[in-house]
Amino acid sequence: MAHKVEAWGTRVGLILAMAGNAVGLGNFLRFPVQAVQNGGGAFIIPYLICFLLMGIPLLFIEWSTGRYGGKFGNHSTPYILDTMARGRVWKYIGVFGIFTNIAVVSYYVYIESWAFSYVYHSIIGSFKGLTQGEVAAFFNSYVDIMHSTTGIPFEALIFYVLVLGLNTYVLSKGIKGVEKVAKIGMPLLILFGVILAIRGLTLGTSGASSMFPDANAWDGLNFLWTPQYDSLTNPKVWLAAAGQIFFTLSVGMGTIHCYAAYVKSKDDIALNAVSAGFMNEFVEVVLGSMIVIPIAAGYLGLDWVKENAGFGMAFQTMPYLFQQWGSVIAAFAGILWFGLLFFAGITSSLAMGTPWVSFMKDEFNWTNSKGAWSFGFITLLVGLPTVYFYQQGVFDEYDYWAGTVSLVVFALFETIVFSWIFGINKGWKEINYGADIKVPIIYKFIIKYITPVLLLFVFVGALFTPMGNDWIGNINSLFNGDGWALDNASLIKQLTQAGIKEQLAVATDPAVISQLKDKMFFSNLARGILLSLFIFIALMVYYAFLKRRKEGRATL
Ligand code: ALA
Repeated sequence: MAHKVEAWGTRVGLILAMAGNAVGLGNFLRFPVQAVQNGGGAFIIPYLICFLLMGIPLLFIEWSTGRYGGKFGNHSTPYILDTMARGRVWKYIGVFGIFTNIAVVSYYVYIESWAFSYVYHSIIGSFKGLTQGEVAAFFNSYVDIMHSTTGIPFEALIFYVLVLGLNTYVLSKGIKGVEKVAKIGMPLLILFGVILAIRGLTLGTSGASSMFPDANAWDGLNFLWTPQYDSLTNPKVWLAAAGQIFFTLSVGMGTIHCYAAYVKSKDDIALNAVSAGFMNEFVEVVLGSMIVIPIAAGYLGLDWVKENAGFGMAFQTMPYLFQQWGSVIAAFAGILWFGLLFFAGITSSLAMGTPWVSFMKDEFNWTNSKGAWSFGFITLLVGLPTVYFYQQGVFDEYDYWAGTVSLVVFALFETIVFSWIFGINKGWKEINYGADIKVPIIYKFIIKYITPVLLLFVFVGALFTPMGNDWIGNINSLFNGDGWALDNASLIKQLTQAGIKEQLAVATDPAVISQLKDKMFFSNLARGILLSLFIFIALMVYYAFLKRRKEGRATL
């Protein structure tokens, strides 16, 4: 091997890097929104069950397959899977573990760059004296890069390139660079989170808002934390909970395999996996629910939060809410909040860069530096359309296919490979080898049977989501012989763009028709880019295979 084999410097560094991989924008922006949209306390129980029955098992699977692959010098999923299962096809399934990362990071870095720029705007006082509507308008103008009036021309683009460059630079320093950022970023993030959470908790019924005198921060917390058992029979809530578990733990992505491949072959992975997983859950469930929702509910009321919950909510409201604390504290709170988001983001986006860099190092003897700059270049190419055409839906299209569907598809495949092809007995030995805890034996059963069945349910549920998300009604209708009506949100209808086509068929207003045609165009553009990216990585895997065969290293 041309390069010295890298490894994590310290155990603390490894756990912080793995926790940093998991703790991300998903914890602070996606979790509260998912919880609010799925009934608050109604969401929490399915969410915790999905954590135990899918999240933890997948963490065990991914950590152990990663360390196993690392023993053979494989640090990314194509050749990790190739080592575990005979058959030429598996390395192409492993393409998901590089593809998903590049596709997700290309838009993820964009949100990270918003956070970075909002730190800057908090410092220079851009939000001083703005009304709630003006703060929201500021965000809309920021992402409308051609007509933005937020200060610097093409500001969103400049910050995007800057933050992507920063990621690339750290990646060029190898695993040690990633570890250093995690060791600084994670403690700061938790500190910032705790300060803001205490503020969220102490806002109480202060009657802080003149606009909504009855607004109450406790309403937000009670809404999230009062368990409601009726949700247990609602598949929509289960699907949302499973989706959140995947995204927040970064399972089904390929990042955990890659980080774990740098664990020394005799070192523990079982306790590490559980520690990183629980650290993520603490940050998500405790800190993630104590900032945006109670603060927004304290000033704008719970009803407002329920109506307006969305991904951009934190950017469109928080600067305004902070202003209510006076301009000095507002600047300080802005730095804490957007700084927290930035650290949460960068420790995850660095993880998404490593599979590609590691693949090029393993297969083509590239240096960290060459691998990192090629990653930066490819990500820029894939990511620019999300920056330019954010408002036209390219961002959402990437998030749906790469950030949602791909995770489930890959998780399903890897679970089957681990339990049924590699074999659960060998797999269980891998999980327990060098373990510093005794993993409960029940997990052997869960990993073999329960996790794949649940994954299959999630996948089939997404494929055939019924009209209006009304599962009970549609099951009755199926048994009565009246068929199954698919919702436009179902994977099948998304694939065929049925929703846009139906709207086009009935539209008469030329402006609406042109809008829908644009939507279709940008959706196809995004899909074309994603497909090209997948094919490009698959070709690289094929070239690597030819090279291995020439060198007598190919397994088949
Ligand atoms: N796990 C990362 C997050 O939650 C991707 O943002």
